[in-house]
Amino acid sequence: MERHILKTNGLKKIYMMGKVETPALSGVDITVKKGEFVALMGPSGSGKTTFLNLTGMLDNPTDGKIHIDGFDISALKESKKSLFRLEKLGFIFQFFNLFPELTALENVYLPMMLKGIKKKDYISRAEELLDLVGLKKRMRHYPAELSGGEQQRVTIARALSNSPALILADEPTANLDSTTAAEIMELFREINKQGETIFMVTHEKEFGEKADRIIKLKDGLVVN
Ligand SMILES: Nc1ncnc2c1ncn2[C@@H]1O[C@H](COP(=O)(O)OP(=O)(O)O)[C@@H](O)[C@H]1O
Ligand SMILES: [Mg+2]
Repeated sequence: MERHILKTNGLKKIYMMGKVETPALSGVDITVKKGEFVALMGPSGSGKTTFLNLTGMLDNPTDGKIHIDGFDISALKESKKSLFRLEKLGFIFQFFNLFPELTALENVYLPMMLKGIKKKDYISRAEELLDLVGLKKRMRHYPAELSGGEQQRVTIARALSNSPALILADEPTANLDSTTAAEIMELFREINKQGETIFMVTHEKEFGEKADRIIKLKDGLVVN
């Protein structure tokens, strides 16, 4: 049987602002299999970021279920969520979200350090990952000393550091020029070929088409 890394059933999110209800997701069923590279597309306001935030356990659904790597995440206690997130998920955001006071190398090994991996092991793995994303020569640099594309490469290396079951990316190329964006998409393809499962939100058709499969959202519903 093929393994589902991500599976949502009837996922709903209604934002409440005072007495005003904004439905953002209205019953979304999405599955992602191990090793797949899936792009979630749709117009602004269709619910893409909401879907990613729920899957990334940064917010709770109003209704419905999310399974990640076979685990029902709604059943996890709050206190267990951050460890689960650290072990199962790798995040790549639109704004690179690196710690400015840490070097590229330190940013990449931080999740492994938090997980309790031995120092000599996390340093050598971080170096390997920075080599994989083509940044070994820049590993002692701080984020401010790196270009946008280089910062995003560091973020990708960091996302890979704990060998996550699923990589979640929200508009990873939105703040990059088109040449750099295309290079970052090539890197996504590369790491996918090496076996990583990737779920990426984008509104750029040419990048969505780099994925194995496109899922379209409109008004909080899948419309394929
Ligand atoms: N924190 C929030 N509070 C209230 N409404 C929100 C919030 N976040 C998103 N929304 C609304 O939910 C809908 C989906 O938003 P979002 O998931 O950000 O869409 P997308 O990422 O596809 O542009 C929109 O109508 C948006 O205005
Ligand atoms: Mg969005």
